[in-house]
Amino acid sequence: MGIFDWVDERLGVKSLVRGFLDRPVPANVGWLNTLGSATLFLLLVQIATGISLALFYVPAADNAYQSVQHIDTLAFGTLVRGVHHWSASALVVLIGLHTLRVFFHAAYRYPRELTWVVGALLFLVTLGFAFTGYLLPWDQKAYWATVVGTNVAGSAPFVGDLILNLLRGGPAMTTATLTRFYGIHVWVLPASLLLLVGLHLFMVIRQGIAAPPRRNATSEEIPGETKKARYAREYAAEKSAGHPFYQSLLKDAVVAVGIILVVAVLAIAVGAPLEARADPNAVGYVPRPEWYFLDVFQMLWYVSGPAEPLIIFLAGTVGFLVFLLLPLFDRGRERHPRRRPVATLAGALVVVAVGVLTYQGATAPAPVAAGAGLTASGSLTASQKAGLHVFELEGCAACHLVNGSGGTAGPDLTHVAARLGSAEIQHQILQPRDKMPPYTDIAPADMTSLLDFLSTLK
Ligand code: HEC
Repeated sequence: MGIFDWVDERLGVKSLVRGFLDRPVPANVGWLNTLGSATLFLLLVQIATGISLALFYVPAADNAYQSVQHIDTLAFGTLVRGVHHWSASALVVLIGLHTLRVFFHAAYRYPRELTWVVGALLFLVTLGFAFTGYLLPWDQKAYWATVVGTNVAGSAPFVGDLILNLLRGGPAMTTATLTRFYGIHVWVLPASLLLLVGLHLFMVIRQGIAAPPRRNATSEEIPGETKKARYAREYAAEKSAGHPFYQSLLKDAVVAVGIILVVAVLAIAVGAPLEARADPNAVGYVPRPEWYFLDVFQMLWYVSGPAEPLIIFLAGTVGFLVFLLLPLFDRGRERHPRRRPVATLAGALVVVAVGVLTYQGATAPAPVAAGAGLTASGSLTASQKAGLHVFELEGCAACHLVNGSGGTAGPDLTHVAARLGSAEIQHQILQPRDKMPPYTDIAPADMTSLLDFLSTLK
């Protein structure tokens, strides 16, 4: 008796597995339906590589960077780190594509509303992973992108300071910040992830894969039939025209192998980046967010004025709630993209907007979100604008907050003109009191515009 028979005699798993593999899947379930399982597959890759990295990583400001350098010297170290880095990016792409597929197929319609809601939360968790993981190498890029990112969160109305202190473990970026991000990255988010993925899969298995929408309605309405009965009748018809599940599973496997090959090639050929160690006093470092946050930062650039934090906060919250609760207000019957033109057009617009914003963010010459980038540059005079430019070029934003954006090594300059006159500011720039480096080589004309710009910060 083979080992499988031995186990099967006791647990009766053979019939379970057979039933699982042979269960019917609706007609037309094809390659687009592999996006969900590909996302799941990458999550597993992240868990495996993440655990390997956690065995060597030290979450303290003094040691983090060296521990990452050490990982790169180990056998397979760069490979594991590279795979973790690139599959994070691939994960964002795949979860985005999977969401789009579900949206354009209206697969969130009755009875799968909750599957969408849980999926939207999973989307948020994935972005949380990306945001917290970015800081861990504690290199320049990690540090300054997180300075900017947490400042944006910290500019939320009323609760901004609270959020900032919660995220950073104090007003500045220190080991407290790093251990917090690490704890969130390896405990809070994975626990939420497992719970939500479990729920998501439970729902998908319980309800079966949604039948892809048909161009023409397949069945006539029967008067008096309930929604539930009608759905059951139509879904049964789709399944009897379909194929066994293992055929879909084969497609899933092909896609998973393809993805892991691409990720491995990127990990080997490009590797995971590691810049110089984070330096809180680095003058003029231009922080750039990871590509999947470029669109958000580009959007921030367009919003300005005194209501800016409120607008950002409201737009973000409302945007996410619409996304989260979509199935609750989009409840029509039509599912084919051509038969729901408004939704299809809206979805296409979002895709184009994200693409354009990401492109603009990637090609913008000036640091999109650095320091003064968030001030109301629209209302400045030519000289003040030139001064803003000097402020950005000289890297003042690396140490100074202006309107919630920039570094925190020096005092917040959002209202500096209310405290200091131009002469005092100039004196500080030329002969700083203490830790600030002196800027004696700023040309007189530039100094005039710089002071002109700073005088608007009241
Ligand atoms: C390396 C970090 C750093 C950079 C870069 C930097 N500063 Fe400062 N700045 C400080 C610190 C720290 C202070 C507090 C006083 C001191 O240490 O001199 C300060 C103080 C100031 C003050 C006085 C604010 C107050 O409320 O007392 C002004 C104004 C100022 N900086 C303007 C600038 C300008 C303009 C630039 C760019 C040309 C700049 N800083 C670049 C760190 C920096």
